[in-house]
Amino acid sequence: MSDPKFIALTPELHEYVVRHGAREDGALAAVRESTAALGDVAVMQISPDQGALMTMLARLSGASRAIELGTFTGYSAICIARGLADGGLLTACELDPERAETARANFEAADVADRIDVVVGPAAETLAGLTETGPGTFDLAFIDADKTGYPGYYEACLTLLRPGGLIVLDNVLRDGTVLDPPADDEGGRAIAALNESIAEDDRVDVAMLGIADGITLARKR
Ligand SMILES: C[S@@+](CC[C@H](N)C(=O)[O-])C[C@H]1O[C@@H](n2cnc3c(N)ncnc32)[C@H](O)[C@@H]1O
Repeated sequence: MSDPKFIALTPELHEYVVRHGAREDGALAAVRESTAALGDVAVMQISPDQGALMTMLARLSGASRAIELGTFTGYSAICIARGLADGGLLTACELDPERAETARANFEAADVADRIDVVVGPAAETLAGLTETGPGTFDLAFIDADKTGYPGYYEACLTLLRPGGLIVLDNVLRDGTVLDPPADDEGGRAIAALNESIAEDDRVDVAMLGIADGITLARKR
C-alpha cells in the first residue's frame, strides 16, 4: 500500500500539474522549445511547474535583489525576474559564454532584460566579489549550477542574504540517488553531504520539497 502522505507523480499526473498549476506563456514556451532543440542538455532546464514556484517565491518574499547560479538558456531567470518587485534586479551567473548569450536574447524576447544582469564566469568568483561589496543585501538566491560547488555556493549565499532572505537549492534528490550516491558521482556526494548539514543548520529555517528533482528552501534566520 502506498504511503498516504505523498504520491509519486506519473508523467500524466505531472502533465496535469503543469496544466493546472503553471501558466507558461508564449515567451517561456519559446525558450522551452528552442532549448529542446539543443538536444539532451535540455534536461537541465527547470520544468514549468518549478518555474511557477520560482515566480511565486520571488513574489511572496517581496524580493528586489536576487541571484541565480546556473542560468543556462534563461528559463528559471525569466521566472524569477517576473516575480521581483518593481525596480528589482536579478544577477544571473553562467559559466558558458554561448549559453549566456542565448539567455540574454531570451531575456530581450521575454521583456525582462532590464531586470537581469548576466555575469559570465565561475559563480564562485562572482559570489566572492558580491559578498565582499554587499553582504546582507540580497533577498533571494537560486542555486542550480555545478553540483560540486553547492556547499561553497550555499555558504556564500548565506553571507549575501539579509535575515529573512531565501535560498532555493535545486536537484537536492539528485535523480533519486541521494540515498546512496555512487562513489564516482562527486556532485551527488556533495549534495548528500550538504543536505545533511542544512538539516542541522540552525542559521536557517528549512523545508525540503519532494517535487521536480527535489528543492530545498532555506530561510536565513
Ligand atoms: C542545470 S543548468 C541551469 C538551468 C537553468 N537554471 C534553467 O532552469 O534553465 C546549470 C548551468 O550551470 C552552468 N555552470 C556550471 N558550472 C558553473 C560555474 N562554476 N559557474 C557558473 N555557472 C556554471 C552550466 O553551464 C549550466 O548552464
